[in-house]
Amino acid sequence: MIGHIEAINIRRSIRNYSKEKLDSNLIEKINALLSTPKIGPFDNRPRFVLIEKPKAREQEKVRLGTYGFIDNAAYFIGGCIEKSAFSEVDYGYSLQRIIIELTRLGLGTCWLGGSFRRKDYRKLLNTQKNEIIPCITPVGYKSTKKSRRERLGLVFSDGSLRKDFNTFFFENNFETPIIFNPEDNYHKALEAVRKAPSAMNKQPWRVLKIEDKYHFYLKRDSIVGTTKASDLQKVDMGIALANFKLALEELNVQGKWHIADPNIGNLEYIITWIS
Ligand SMILES: Cc1cc2nc3c(=O)[nH]c(=O)nc-3n(C[C@H](O)[C@H](O)[C@H](O)COP(=O)(O)O)c2cc1C
Repeated sequence: MIGHIEAINIRRSIRNYSKEKLDSNLIEKINALLSTPKIGPFDNRPRFVLIEKPKAREQEKVRLGTYGFIDNAAYFIGGCIEKSAFSEVDYGYSLQRIIIELTRLGLGTCWLGGSFRRKDYRKLLNTQKNEIIPCITPVGYKSTKKSRRERLGLVFSDGSLRKDFNTFFFENNFETPIIFNPEDNYHKALEAVRKAPSAMNKQPWRVLKIEDKYHFYLKRDSIVGTTKASDLQKVDMGIALANFKLALEELNVQGKWHIADPNIGNLEYIITWIS
């Protein structure tokens, strides 16, 4: 099985699925992945379920539509978390760790924050009033055929494009970019942040290194508005934290998350990694 860093590098949003059913062994593995308790850097605990679309449609009378964005997915992972200031970060963190494990199993996924019927998932997850469903993902094998939206020329952006390393990562102040050194374990972990998926591929993460501290910030985009249901750019931040941590785990680098805002600059402070 491939490692976590390699899985982070090869993961792409898959929007066209094969109709093939997943075998029971794989379903068991996915369910085991989802049922282990999850906890994010802010101590919030999301929960997740695997949904088999044909079954759920028949038994629960839900449509599970994706407004034409996803073709033929027969399985979805839905999840929810109690609403609080940073719960979307923890949700993004936890679902990204799941998505990377699914990538290692050879499965395709696609973060969906907008194009799904939240109402259906509220029913299937039996959410309480204070619980939100920030995102879901389809899961399955990629189809060899192009998706309908791809055929219609509606998919413009190349999802694999990312801005340069020195756009995101700085040392001591936001005027001094870090120059990538492929031998440095922390640079490898930051490179895993750069590879992260983000809503509308806006790549809103910024990191400021001061001594042994890595301060993570959110650079807000006015287009990716916060829907009533959830703050997708906070989900983006959680995904980035997960990639950073997964890379450090593989490289055997120790450290911890802390709240230690150095009060520098105008970006939205999220959290600090202390090595
Ligand atoms: C929080 C979040 C929400 C997203 N919502 C959607 C969505 O509603 N519909 C969709 O087609 N893609 C969605 N995406 C996928 C992004 O467009 C995609 O990750 C980005 O363009 C980078 O491409 P890649 O995942 O192939 O690397 C979302 C991604 C994230 C992280």
